Amino acid sequence: MRAVVACLAILSLGACVETGRATDDGFSATGQVVAMSGGDGGAAHACFACHGLEGRGDGEGAPRLAGLEAGYLHKQLEDYAAGLRADKVMQPVAERLTPSARLAVARYYAALPPTPAVTAAAPPAYAACVACHGAAGEGAGAGGPAIAGQPAAYVADQLRRWREAKRRNDPRGVMRVAAADLSAPEAAAIAVWLASASASPPHDIAAATRSAADAASE
Ligand code: HEC
Ligand code: HEC
Repeated sequence: MRAVVACLAILSLGACVETGRATDDGFSATGQVVAMSGGDGGAAHACFACHGLEGRGDGEGAPRLAGLEAGYLHKQLEDYAAGLRADKVMQPVAERLTPSARLAVARYYAALPPTPAVTAAAPPAYAACVACHGAAGEGAGAGGPAIAGQPAAYVADQLRRWREAKRRNDPRGVMRVAAADLSAPEAAAIAVWLASASASPPHDIAAATRSAADAASE
């Protein structure tokens, strides 16, 4: 497979992003332009500003997008745009993209390298998650997205949103049920463990534990 290295001179960022995929170059290039420019939403909506130049997230509230399944990413963008996944930051971003830009940018991020699975031993409460997210958070295809390498505060916050029925876009309510069974400390322990996947942005584990505990109990 030929690695495609695209450099966006127009933005004078000197940013070179390796997409590692020679198939559907057209879509990948369009998706990269959306990621770097924000599409019709303009520079304030440029994805990389919050999700990182390599799509690895900001280590806090903005999740990793790199290597997640295109179908999952696309569904989230459609859900934000349709108001099915409520979020003050992402709804306006997704609404301003055309349907084909949402698809292209989802495919672009899906083609970036994924985060390796978590290597440390899982906390006991994660046993309830394995069937759908994999033993090491690597995901299980359509069963559930990869969650290894997501920022601890982001995961804890999503679990809290499901508990409070603020995120409701999961098929058949599977996540609402799973999150309802977790205590805030269990949710925080899972969140910190997932964030320990080696390729997530460097972070201070004590600070991550504190922010995950805050997000879980807010
Ligand atoms: C101002 C910061 C910001 C910008 C710009 C931004 N995002 Fe986000 N994004 C976030 C935050 C914060 C979240 C978490 C929202 C939530 O909890 O639902 C998020 C969540 C997401 C998710 C959900 C991922 C998951 O794992 O479920 C996707 C997909 C996404 N963003 C794609 C994009 C794309 C594509 C762009 C550019 C067109 C973009 N974002 C621009 C901050 C941003
Ligand atoms: C029956 C299958 C199933 C089980 C069990 C399950 N999940 Fe999920 N999970 C899903 C699906 C499906 C989604 C994607 C929902 C959507 O499309 O928005 C998801 C999404 C998530 C997300 C959001 C990912 C993101 O990028 O925003 C997190 C975090 C998560 N699950 C954590 C857990 C944890 C922790 C457990 C165990 C306590 C668990 N899940 C159990 C199926 C499951």
